[in-house]
Amino acid sequence: MEDYRPETYGDRIADLYDQMVVGLPDPADCVDRLAELAGPGPALELGIGTGRVALPLAARGVRVHGVDASAAMVERLRAKPGGGAIEVTLGDFAGVPVASVEGGYPLVYVVFNTFFSLLTQDDQVRCFAEVAGRLAPGGAFVVEAFVPDPTLHPGGQSVRTRHLGLDLVQFDVALHDPVAQRVDFQHVLLAGDGTRLLPGAIRYAWPAELDLMARMAGLRVRERWGGWRREPFGAASGLHVSVYEHAGAAAS
Ligand SMILES: C[S@@+](CC[C@H](N)C(=O)[O-])C[C@H]1O[C@@H](n2cnc3c(N)ncnc32)[C@H](O)[C@@H]1O
Repeated sequence: MEDYRPETYGDRIADLYDQMVVGLPDPADCVDRLAELAGPGPALELGIGTGRVALPLAARGVRVHGVDASAAMVERLRAKPGGGAIEVTLGDFAGVPVASVEGGYPLVYVVFNTFFSLLTQDDQVRCFAEVAGRLAPGGAFVVEAFVPDPTLHPGGQSVRTRHLGLDLVQFDVALHDPVAQRVDFQHVLLAGDGTRLLPGAIRYAWPAELDLMARMAGLRVRERWGGWRREPFGAASGLHVSVYEHAGAAAS
């Protein structure tokens, strides 16, 4: 998508984001797992957004830092109770633009497919390397992402109706490039008082490719679950929660 930038998704959706994610499962299980891995922290969230996960994690007593490219998303986070206490760096998380913390981060995490917001393999590889350089010895890098399903865009495109009401229609349109593993999309909202276009783009990767990026960064898979309740991961899993650690770390 021409002129699409790291901040585009967040800047366009910020005022609607919290409404649009109300249907997602409660993040309590996710927060439980992250809190176990973080200890007192600090934990670093890549693509922290409006704090859907960071705020309940901070409420558990974990010091949380974040990175996000969208000032509009971060403004929403800061307006919420507890949001002012979270240190957020504005920037592209491909380069993990945060100052080192003493001893390194015990936990860096990126949830809800947000890792795929990095639109090239180069940026994804770079991100793994930058994270590896900021992890504490024994620290964990947690990635939650969907397992790609190439059947979703037959013929390289798709249209999916999300809501059909008397006064509101919501649908998604997408173009898929299987060579670049890239999907460009628009969430379209049509209402009596106008149209909203909420653009997005992702570069997806299978777990095996993420593991290879991890290996190139000196990391390895410590655990992989099919969900935040430590569900087993297998061929039928639609998402994975992958916990990476330094390859030299003692087995835990
Ligand atoms: C789908 S939202 C997820 C927000 C939050 N993690 C959650 O789970 O609700 C993706 C977030 O990542 C941010 N983002 C996307 N690409 C980014 C990039 N390259 N660098 C920094 N932030 C980015 C967006 O601005 C947005 O806030």
